[in-house]
Amino acid sequence: MVALKKVRMDNEKEGFPITAIREVKILKQLRHNNIVQLQEIVTSEEEGGQSIYMVFEYMDHDLTGLMMSETGWSPTVPQIKCYMKQLLEGLHHVHTNGVLHRDIKGSNLLINNQGQLKLADFGLARPFTEQQGNYTNRVITLWYRPPELLLGAVQYGPAIDMWSAGCILAEFLERKAIFPGKTEVDQLEHIFKLCGSPTTDNWPESPHLPYFGMLTFPKGARRCLRDRFKHWHPDALDLVDKLLTLDPKNRITANQALDSDYFWKEPMPCQPSAIPPYQTSSHEFEAKKRRQNNQHHQQPQHNQHQNHNSHHNNSHHNSHHSNNSAANKRVRR
Ligand SMILES: Nc1ncnc2c1ncn2[C@@H]1O[C@H](COP(=O)(O)OP(=O)(O)O)[C@@H](O)[C@H]1O
Ligand SMILES: [Mg+2]
Repeated sequence: MVALKKVRMDNEKEGFPITAIREVKILKQLRHNNIVQLQEIVTSEEEGGQSIYMVFEYMDHDLTGLMMSETGWSPTVPQIKCYMKQLLEGLHHVHTNGVLHRDIKGSNLLINNQGQLKLADFGLARPFTEQQGNYTNRVITLWYRPPELLLGAVQYGPAIDMWSAGCILAEFLERKAIFPGKTEVDQLEHIFKLCGSPTTDNWPESPHLPYFGMLTFPKGARRCLRDRFKHWHPDALDLVDKLLTLDPKNRITANQALDSDYFWKEPMPCQPSAIPPYQTSSHEFEAKKRRQNNQHHQQPQHNQHQNHNSHHNNSHHNSHHSNNSAANKRVRR
């Protein structure tokens, strides 16, 4: 079984789109247990002309799909630690290979029935250098976007992905997104209410960021993260606190996170193979479809993601297509 990702050719008059070339190049460069494996590129003749697909190893679930599933998915503490460890190991590999993922969120974290978690969707990823050039700040889905990007930074590094990882761990523990902003300004307000407002003490460079002076966010808000989540285990709280650090220079790296007590004190992370398989396959697009169906009493609806069983090389293909309709889809430069 494999998964197919259709390469969008909508606006292409001349050949293979440059964004897809970048995605393929990065995926080929990043071979790791915790990164989804690109097997090959195939073309197929279809009604509208030729289509190109990226062929991936098939993963049974994505994290958002599992979290939304009605069957009440509730991983144990050792299992959450096991997933988080794999997320951080994947990120460590991405970062040490000079790449930024730039879209870490539940639907891009794939999980299989062997208990493995793999980073997917390198559609927004890009290489970076220590000197940090000027990159777009319109990356990362809003709820997982770090404060420096929201304040307009165009020079940034791996710390942006670490913020998203902190949001994911917090979501594992709260079972809901902790910063569900509706707009960019609203997103910053959610962040500052919990993490405190930026000051020259906690984040010396913040006043120089493009949108700092333009916004009327709460200026004197105190950091209250530890208080709001005091029901968590102290080791989990410590790790989230260090990941959700406003100043990207003080935010911990994937390697430092992997070294934290959270992963080295009881209860220890379990082995992936110790996680039992989940019966129903859960991906975000399926979970959303199920919810819609329940709400609209089976009214017909369109959805760009579809599973169809075609046969190619005698294997069963599960196909998914790029979806540009998401409200906070990103522009890439
Ligand atoms: N290898 C895979 N196996 C199974 N499902 C996958 C795989 N890769 C992606 N998916 C599913 O398809 C969705 C969209 O794929 P993704 O690569 O994230 O593309 P997009 O750019 O459209 O977000 C994912 O959220 C996941 O549910
Ligand atoms: Mg995606």
